[in-house]
Amino acid sequence: MNDKDFEQRLQEAYAPETFRQQAHALTDMLADYLEQAESKRLDHVLAPNEPNALYQAWQKRPLPSHGAGEEALLPFLREVLQESIHVHHPHYLGHQVSAPLPVAALCDLMSSLLNNGAAVYEMGPLENVFGRLLVEWMGKTLGMGDKTGGVMTSGGSMGNLTALLAARQVKAGVDVWNEGNNNTNPLAIMVSDQSHYCIERAARLMGLGADGVIKIRTDAAFQIQPEAIEAAYAEAQKRGRKVFAIVGGACSTATGTFENLEALAAFAKAHDLWFHVDGAHGAPTILSELHQHKLKGVEHADSIIWDAHKMMMMPALVTAVIFRDHLDSYAPFSQAASYLFHGNPQDEWYHSGIRTLECTKVMMSLKLYTCIQLYGTAFFGKFVEHQYAQTARFAAMLKAAPDFEIAVEPQANIICFRHRPEGTRDEDMDDLQAHIRSRILETGKFYIVRTTLPTGIHLRCTLLNPLLHDADLLELMGFIRQLGAEKVKRAA
Ligand SMILES: Cc1ncc(COP(=O)(O)O)c(C=O)c1O
Repeated sequence: MNDKDFEQRLQEAYAPETFRQQAHALTDMLADYLEQAESKRLDHVLAPNEPNALYQAWQKRPLPSHGAGEEALLPFLREVLQESIHVHHPHYLGHQVSAPLPVAALCDLMSSLLNNGAAVYEMGPLENVFGRLLVEWMGKTLGMGDKTGGVMTSGGSMGNLTALLAARQVKAGVDVWNEGNNNTNPLAIMVSDQSHYCIERAARLMGLGADGVIKIRTDAAFQIQPEAIEAAYAEAQKRGRKVFAIVGGACSTATGTFENLEALAAFAKAHDLWFHVDGAHGAPTILSELHQHKLKGVEHADSIIWDAHKMMMMPALVTAVIFRDHLDSYAPFSQAASYLFHGNPQDEWYHSGIRTLECTKVMMSLKLYTCIQLYGTAFFGKFVEHQYAQTARFAAMLKAAPDFEIAVEPQANIICFRHRPEGTRDEDMDDLQAHIRSRILETGKFYIVRTTLPTGIHLRCTLLNPLLHDADLLELMGFIRQLGAEKVKRAA
C-alpha cells in the first residue's frame, strides 16, 4: 500500500459519517437477528460445525494485505452471525452465559469507542467512579458493612484469584508478595469438592500446588456438613499445611447448590481464616427477597465475587471483587509502578489498576451502571425470581415424568437430570446421556451441556434466558425422548 492509499483508507476508516452509516446498518441487522432468535425463526441455536472443518474453511481465506473496504462489513458480519451460538434463542439452555440486554450491548459499543481503560483515573474517570459505586452497592446489599469496597475485574476466574491473593497476604502470616514463598510453611486453602475449577487454578497459580487445595467433601445433596470441614482441616494438618482461607460456593457451577455459608463462616472465625465466597453465579440472589436466605452467612465473608455477566443479563465480562474491609483490596498487588501511580495506594482508590491484574482495562461498569439506571435494581431481583421459579417448574415436570430423574432439587436456575426410558439398565445410563447430548449438538435444535456427577453423566441446563417458555422445556423433553429412542433402537 502506498502512502496515498494509506491516507485515503485512514480518512475513510475514521470518517464519522461512515461510522454513522455502518452503525445504523449494523444495528438494523442485529435487531433483525434478535427478532429471529427470540421468535425461534432461527432454526438452530448453534450451527453444527466440527472445529477442524470450521478452521479449515476460514484458513482458505487468508488475511488480505489489502482489505476489501467498508462495503465488506455487513456481509462479513452476517457470516459471523451464522457461525455463532445464539444465546437469545429460547432453546439456549447451556453454560452460564446470559442473553444480554440489548441496551447493554449498545453501552459496550460506546465503551469500545471511548476506550477509556480504568487502570488509571485520567484514562477512565467515570469508569472508576461507576465501579466504586457498584461495588459499594453490592457489598452493602450483601450486608458486608460500612467499610465494604473493592474493584471491578475481568471475570470470575480473575476475581477469585484477586481475592485469594488478598487472603494470603492478610492471613498467611508472611509477606509472600514481597518475600516470596520461601521460609513459610506450605500454605493451603480449603474449598468444597464442587467448586469451580478456577479456584484450584488460582491456588496453583499462587504456587500452592495440588496438595495446597484441600477439598471439603460434599454429601449426596452436594452440601458441606460441619464434620466434613473438620475432616478437611485435619487432612491439611496431616499434610503439614497451613490453611489461610476457606472458600464457600454460592452457588456451585455443576448443580447450582448454595453451600452452608454460615458453617463455613463460623469455622473461618474459629480458626482465624479468611472466608471467601465464590458468588460468581449466585451473588445477585441477594436482590430477591424470596431467595436471599440462601446466602445466609455471606455477611461474614471477608471477600466475595459477583459476576454481572451471569445473573444480571450483562454481556461478558463484568465482575466485582468485594471486600468487607476495602483496605484489604490493596493487598493483592501492592507493587509500585511509579510511572502510573504516585501516592499512597489507599488514597488513590480511583486508580483501579492498583487493585487488579489488568493494566489496560475494559470499560466494563458502564453497561451495568446504565442498565440499573434504566431498569432499577428491583428488575434484577425479579429476574432472579423468574429464572428460579421456572427452574423449579422444570424440575416438577421432570419428576412427574416416569422416564426422567433429577440429580438434586434445584436451588437456583441450574438443573441436572437424566433420561431413563423404561427398562434402561444402570450400566447403560451414562452412554445414553452422552449420546443424547452429542445428538442435540449435531442437530443444533437446542443447546444444553453435560456434567459428570458422582452418580454418573447428567444432562445439565442453566435457565438464564428469560425468553424461554415452559412449552420449550416440554419440547426439550420430547426431543430427548426421541433421541433416546434412537439409541435404544440402534442397540436392539
Ligand atoms: C461458581 C463459578 N465461579 C467462577 C466462575 C468463573 O467465572 P468466569 O467465567 O467469569 O471467569 C464460574 C463460571 O461459570 C462459576 O460458575
